[in-house]
Amino acid sequence: MLESEEIIRVLEGVTPRSLRAVLNEFAKTFPSGRAAFSTSFSLEDQAITHLIATEDLPVRIFTLDTGRHFTETYKTLDATRARYSRPIEVFFPNTQAVQKLVSEKGAFSFYDSLENRLECCNIRKVEPLARALKDVDLWITGIRRAQSPERSHLPFFETDRTHNLVKFHPLLDWSDTMLKEFLREHDVPYNALSDRGFLSIGCEPCTRPVEPGGDVRSGRWWWESAEKKECGLHLHK
Ligand code: ADX
Ligand code: SF4
Repeated sequence: MLESEEIIRVLEGVTPRSLRAVLNEFAKTFPSGRAAFSTSFSLEDQAITHLIATEDLPVRIFTLDTGRHFTETYKTLDATRARYSRPIEVFFPNTQAVQKLVSEKGAFSFYDSLENRLECCNIRKVEPLARALKDVDLWITGIRRAQSPERSHLPFFETDRTHNLVKFHPLLDWSDTMLKEFLREHDVPYNALSDRGFLSIGCEPCTRPVEPGGDVRSGRWWWESAEKKECGLHLHK
């Protein structure tokens, strides 16, 4: 594997102005299979999938199926598969871990405490993510600065010491308008919930629509205080 410092040096020469050009550059930089994109089928993720698929980039696309997604999210998965004829790898939680969790604590333990919520996120997302990112050097996400104050100062490239790779957020600076125009222009399939007030979509029991004028992520884990609203996929250390 390339050393993280070396990867950063390669990437620093690339201006993230033209996303197509940048992603094409990565395709030349990373051996096949060592760049991977995680999709939750959000609007952001759909834009990135469109670019990867239409540019035919050698970037793996994977999703973490927590087992608790909305039906609309699964429909978006299938619509995306149909549109792009591109494999989307699906990672499930460890069977034993989910069986133990639900057998011992029931189906909605995450409402009871922050500890329980993080336990569920760990089992259903964080551990499967580590499996998905094994042997990956570049992890592409759909994070944007506009999504939350915590994300507003992120750099395009982060060294992720947990997974020993470089994380890249190509849409970091995209506005809502740019994103929606891009999806409309290219007729990209998207999650129907996005038109019903769901500005950030995760698992069904932990996501609700945002009140008009509310923060993008206020519909996620709404019973917790704002600074706790990360599930462990994106810990900025
Ligand atoms: S989360 O940490 O709160 O769940 P968020 O929903 O904002 O994350 O999504 C940010 C990025 O994390 C997405 O663009 C995507 O790259 C990745 N991501 C989030 N959820 C998943 C998932 N279920 N499967 C794959 N990637 C995901
Ligand atoms: Fe579990 Fe909710 Fe986390 Fe999904 S978002 S993994 S249901 S706690």
